Amino acid sequence: PADDTTMFIFGASGDLVKRLLVPSLYNLDRDGLLDQGMTIVGVDIAEHDDESFRKHLKDFIADKAADKHAEGGGQELDEEHWQDFARRIHYLQGDFTESNVFEQIKGHIEQADSDNALFYCATAPRFFGDIAEGLGKADLMQEGDNRYRRLVVEKPFGHDLESAKALNAQLLEVMKEEQIYRIDHFLGKETVQNILVARFANVLFEPFWNNHYIDHIQITAAETVGVEQRGSFYEKSGAMRDMVPNHLFQLLAMIAIEPPAAFGADALRSEKAKVLGALRPWPRDEVRKNSVRGQYRAGQLNNDDVPGYRDEPNVAEDSNTETYVAMKMMVDNWRWVNVPFYLRTGKRLSARDTEIAICFKPAPYAQFRGTDVERTASNWLIIQIQPNEGMWFDFQAKRPGPELEMDTVKMGFAYKDFFDLPAATGYETLIYDCLTGDQMLFQRVDTIENSWRAVQPFLDAWAEDDSVEGYDAGSEGPQSAHDLLGRDGREWHKIGEVTGPGVA
Ligand code: BG6
Repeated sequence: PADDTTMFIFGASGDLVKRLLVPSLYNLDRDGLLDQGMTIVGVDIAEHDDESFRKHLKDFIADKAADKHAEGGGQELDEEHWQDFARRIHYLQGDFTESNVFEQIKGHIEQADSDNALFYCATAPRFFGDIAEGLGKADLMQEGDNRYRRLVVEKPFGHDLESAKALNAQLLEVMKEEQIYRIDHFLGKETVQNILVARFANVLFEPFWNNHYIDHIQITAAETVGVEQRGSFYEKSGAMRDMVPNHLFQLLAMIAIEPPAAFGADALRSEKAKVLGALRPWPRDEVRKNSVRGQYRAGQLNNDDVPGYRDEPNVAEDSNTETYVAMKMMVDNWRWVNVPFYLRTGKRLSARDTEIAICFKPAPYAQFRGTDVERTASNWLIIQIQPNEGMWFDFQAKRPGPELEMDTVKMGFAYKDFFDLPAATGYETLIYDCLTGDQMLFQRVDTIENSWRAVQPFLDAWAEDDSVEGYDAGSEGPQSAHDLLGRDGREWHKIGEVTGPGVA
């Protein structure tokens, strides 16, 4: 198990804590990965004592587990284990913009068996700076021979390059980079971590993984949900800030990095920083041509009518916030010259589908002249992140019969055929890594800033012209997104279409 520590969660009464953080801690506890003495202290302004805070968490988690169980998935909450786990949880009421709360935290640590502390910012981003400052002033980030002090920061990490730099500077004033854990929950997904294993534990892929054999790469994160109850947050964020410099660029980095010289946090993150630093920042006048900004209109999903974005709660009637973005990115380095990376993400699309589609170049010589396939079709490798986790490879085979005809067929690996994907939130690994001091899956100062640098030209251009193109909820996104690839003689891989062996 991880070393004994006290974990302080700022913003404890918020959504993330009951939906993801506490359930992950519960799962880690179930698997015997938490130290017996470890305590979890929720810090927030809402009124609670230990008992009412535990009840608030338990009611939500038990209801959710029961609903899932009723739908035929997962277990109901184990009462006995919950009681055992809940003894770890405490509550400290306070305003983290005031110094008093940090003095109380200090008192708490002095009473604890261990001097270690993990501070987790699960608050609105505007508090991150105040929290870091408060921790610094109260001398809470000083490490010693036998104690660590770490800070976990949720996204969004800044809202543009300048604010991300300012936030980094503010954190680095009171702590070292080695103490900062900037979370990107996509990196907690097994299928995302598996990209590295697929690439670097096999000889098969790497020889083809470059501009000689790859035509282009598509990265898609399509969602069927709308903005749900997060209208006021989303209005300020939009799809670009919400998904691109973090989740999509992390997927891109996993695909595009050079093999790290060592399997360690810094070696890996240095490679990521290089690749993200090689993303071409489009000149302002080329942004529109290389991107699409969309917003969903009312439409139908799974036979239900769903409202348009502008009719969602806490969204302005004339809002021009984008709920969809597609873009073409170039990685200006030796390996990826002339290989476009097309990225797209959006809400209220036709299917939930996070995938990386790698399109290889056609065979160099059309050997089979006179057949129905004059020009050999491309090979595709589809890495399906979620749902239907797995990898599928399209290739050509001869159709049986006296005439030489070809068809595209598939080889596939579905996780569920080989592994049990444990019931997990995706946060377990990340929290465990914070507790054991492994920064491999966390963003470093330079990966954050390089990502914002590549996104900044889009934000600047859209600040001048924020027009959005409508798309129907339940569709595959705006027409211009199809044109973006069409102009290059390419097509998007169909959203939600993964077929092949082992697909549910
Ligand atoms: C979050 C975004 O970071 O990622 C959400 O804020 C989005 O808007 C979510 O829905 C997607 O994550 P997942 O794990 O459901 O694909």
